[in-house]
This record gives sequence, structure tokens and C-alpha cells, in this order.
Amino acid sequence: MAKLAVIYYSATGHTYRVAQAVEEGARAAGAQTRLRRVAELAPEAVVAANPGWKAHVAEAAGVPLAAPEDVEWADGYAFGSPTRFGVMAAALKLFFDGLGGLWGRGVMANKPAAAFTGAANPHGGQETTLHTIHNVMYHWGTVIVAPGYTDRVVYAAGGNPYGVSYQAAREGVAVAPEVLEAARYLGGRLARFAAVLTPERSRL
Ligand SMILES: Cc1cc2nc3c(=O)[nH]c(=O)nc-3n(C[C@H](O)[C@H](O)[C@H](O)COP(=O)(O)O)c2cc1C
Repeated sequence: MAKLAVIYYSATGHTYRVAQAVEEGARAAGAQTRLRRVAELAPEAVVAANPGWKAHVAEAAGVPLAAPEDVEWADGYAFGSPTRFGVMAAALKLFFDGLGGLWGRGVMANKPAAAFTGAANPHGGQETTLHTIHNVMYHWGTVIVAPGYTDRVVYAAGGNPYGVSYQAAREGVAVAPEVLEAARYLGGRLARFAAVLTPERSRL
């Protein structure tokens, strides 16, 4: 059974919902999973001043914090972050920056990896944010698993072939069900790639 880590940052909960759907899809495809959040970097006073942010920090308190050990444990990865000016959030980048030792030992090499994101606008930088996450994965030597146009659910979710992405609702409305369906699909696709690649990883 392949082991997948779904590691994300979310301030107000949208990316968390997508992360949960990716994990669901991976489990349904037979993977063992770990859902992990990266640590919040914003000062408490900043979080407290934003009701949506504060509510989500409380909501996600039970989700374990991501650690390098999760990256070592997993046979494949899904990483998610909201769009921040067209790139991933600093919190996820800081987590990546702590993985130099694992990268040096080739721990992530030849493992499949996928990305998910979202933004407030329909064209607010989703694709560039996915590329910023992919860029890190290229350096690790992971095998990028994009959805491409491999299933109808990709079109229904807006047609992003690079990864799963949402448009954030303005007032706390949930992520579109079509996007969650695409996230479950990507989780399943990642699990299937991990199942095939894992036994052969050392020969690649
Ligand atoms: C500092 C900052 C920068 C942002 N930059 C963008 C942006 O470039 N384009 C956009 O459409 N939305 C932008 N947003 C909106 C976020 O992408 C949106 O709130 C986020 O996807 C919600 O995800 P979350 O609920 O998981 O935190 C930005 C938000 C913040 C706080």
C-alpha cells in the first residue's frame, strides 16, 4: 500500500477543504495517508483580527503539524497553498526550506508529487502558484503528477491541467463541489502512480 502525505497551508479554510478531498481520493484508491498542516507564521494578533482566519485556526487545531519525518515516510506527496501574489504562501515555502537535509540524501527523488491551490479571482494566479510549487519539486527530482485533461472532472472544475485549483468564495462559502471532485480525482491518480512507482523507485 503506497503512503501519501498531503501537506498544506490554509489561512481561512479553503485550501484545507481541498486537502481533505485530495486525501479522501487517495484513500479511496488504496493509499495510506497523512494529512498535515504547516505551521502558521502570522502573529496571533493578525490572525485574531480576521474572524475567518481565527475560526480556521481553531478548526484546524486537531490537524497534526507537518514534519520532515512525514516527507521521509511518504512514497508520494500532494502539496497545497493559497495563492499569495501569484506564488505559494511563505508558510509552505518555509517548510520546504527546512528539507535541505532530506533533499541532500535524495529522499524525495523519484516519488510522485502533485499540487493544489486557489485564489480569490478566477484568474488570480492559480497556475503560477502551482508552478512555484512544481518548481521546488523539480529540484527534488520528484515525478510531477498533473491532472492534465485525463478525466471529465478536470473540465467541470474549470479545466486546470496543472493541478487542482479553486476560486475562493468571498464570504465563507465552501469550495465548489466540482473542485472537490477534481481534488479527489487527483488524490486517486497520485495514489495509483505511487503504487506503480514505489516498488521500482530504487531502480529509476
Ligand atoms: C497576502 C495575500 C495575497 C493574495 N494574493 C492573491 C492574488 O494574487 N490573487 C488572488 O486572486 N487572490 C489572492 N489572495 C486571496 C487568497 O488566494 C485567498 O484568500 C485564498 O485562496 C484563501 O485560501 P485559504 O482559505 O486556504 O487561506 C491573496 C490573499 C492574501 C492574504
